[in-house]
Amino acid sequence: MRINKFLAECGVASRRASDQLILDGVVKINGKVCDLGDEVNNDDTVTVHGKPVKKVKKYDYYIMNKPKGYVCTVKDDKGRKTVMDLLPKNVERLFPVGRLDYDTEGLLILTNDGDLTFKLTHPKNEVTKTYLVKTEKPVAEQDLAKLRSGVYIDGVKTSKCKIRLIENTKTGSKLHVTISEGKNRQVRKMFEAVGNSVDFLKRIKIGDLALSGLNRGEVRKLSPAEIDYLLNI
Ligand code: URA
Repeated sequence: MRINKFLAECGVASRRASDQLILDGVVKINGKVCDLGDEVNNDDTVTVHGKPVKKVKKYDYYIMNKPKGYVCTVKDDKGRKTVMDLLPKNVERLFPVGRLDYDTEGLLILTNDGDLTFKLTHPKNEVTKTYLVKTEKPVAEQDLAKLRSGVYIDGVKTSKCKIRLIENTKTGSKLHVTISEGKNRQVRKMFEAVGNSVDFLKRIKIGDLALSGLNRGEVRKLSPAEIDYLLNI
């Protein structure tokens, strides 16, 4: 098994974050600093920061209503608050599934199930994410059409997406935006691409899984039915 997949299954970090640990040179296989793409077998000893890691037997799944002002990493090198600070004290070795920006709030899943993380975040699986967006200026009809069919951000065209206009006032629009990709700051950049800007951004759904009553900053275990839904998404 690839070392990044192994680390994700051990609950160390997502595959992408594990790649970074490998590049940082803190991951060793049988005492030797490993490279991206190295493989591990059952009898290999893997350490991260000198501590041995083992496969997790039981997975945990949590849902959080992330407030703004928290970063979606296990540790922040700038010393900012992270979503891990909001987890109950007895919970360890979970990692956030994908990212919400520092200024974005809403639905975040935390787990040590690397396969689920991969499934929910890999663009090829096209798992939808729905956001409540409030813009700085009203969004014109022709800009809605452009956003729906794809706009260029950082030179790459976004895929088609669904947008439901909820309210248009003189001071801005309220919309539901459903995308199936996860480019960096995608929703904010999409609106910037049509000359607007996002004042408020909250993820309200992943697939059909919704926040359903979870207040800002609250976290709870996913129910067996919710876990089942995500595993079969
Ligand atoms: N799009 C953004 O711009 N930010 C997020 O946090 C998520 C999606």
